[in-house]
Amino acid sequence: MSIAHAPAKVIITGEHFVVHGQPALAAAVNLYSTVSVEAGSPGIVEISSTELGVTARFQAGKEGSFIGDGHRMLEPLMLVIEKILDRAGGRGLGLRVRVESEIPVGVGLGSSASTAVSTATAVAGLLGLKLTRDQICELASVQERSIHKKPSGIDALVTTYGGVVLFKLGQPPFHLEPTDDVRIVIGNTGASRSTGDLVSRMGHRIQMGDMDLMRMSDAVGQITLKAFEAYMRRDFHQLGQLMDENHELLRQAGVSTSQLDNLVEAARDAGAFGAKLTGAGGGGCMIALCRPDEGGRVSKAIEAAGGRSYSVAVDRVGVRIG
Ligand code: MEV
Repeated sequence: MSIAHAPAKVIITGEHFVVHGQPALAAAVNLYSTVSVEAGSPGIVEISSTELGVTARFQAGKEGSFIGDGHRMLEPLMLVIEKILDRAGGRGLGLRVRVESEIPVGVGLGSSASTAVSTATAVAGLLGLKLTRDQICELASVQERSIHKKPSGIDALVTTYGGVVLFKLGQPPFHLEPTDDVRIVIGNTGASRSTGDLVSRMGHRIQMGDMDLMRMSDAVGQITLKAFEAYMRRDFHQLGQLMDENHELLRQAGVSTSQLDNLVEAARDAGAFGAKLTGAGGGGCMIALCRPDEGGRVSKAIEAAGGRSYSVAVDRVGVRIG
């Protein structure tokens, strides 16, 4: 049996506009997906997801592609597995794949990227296929493109490498040294939504030449560069202020909700350096940055405002076997 774990991610600044070429700052956090893989009946790949409560069986068809039994939710993951089987020259092999996760689904924490990356790693591990992290990230992105239509790739990158990353499309990522001097508290509104739809809508408005959005895009790019500098100086007051500014711009762009705004305000009132929605918005999660000793207070405030809170630390490792 081969087992792999991969972390969740939060976007500290720059979501949405990162798809259109602006930089974004993100961190891997210590909530994990776990995928275990063992040999199964030849030509059959069975995937079961504890979170989704479904099991799908895929059978190698005549043309070599796998035919599923209708559980559409697991088809994108099968695309990743198919690619790995191809690489290993193992199309006729059978696999039993079990997906478990403590990352809530569809709320902006990168659960699909994390699952794809842990699946790619576990399957490659079972087949004895040596892959670099870049290759794992690339293979996992097949699923991301299938689910999210036009992802920037930041989720797959962060869950693969772990740590804190400055990301810009078309440029090598810059890995920042993680710190324990600050705490991230996540607040989940519990309202799930489709990242792909939200990204498409924003993309459509930008393509149509929405001047307000284009101005916001430049402003958010500047915020990320300042956030990067503040992080490097360990100036978390400044970083928090920049997160507040980023939230305001995302609110004006129409991707926040009143629930998200309430959690953000509650976290700030409880003493966070700053707070903002994280991921695509439209529901999902927010994050607050705070001093480690204030994490408890901020968590309580988020819960009192109706959110589910997770006080998390930065994951420094990314995907791992075992
Ligand atoms: C999703 O975690 C972040 C978005 O910017 C989409 C993407 O970058 O692919 C909304």
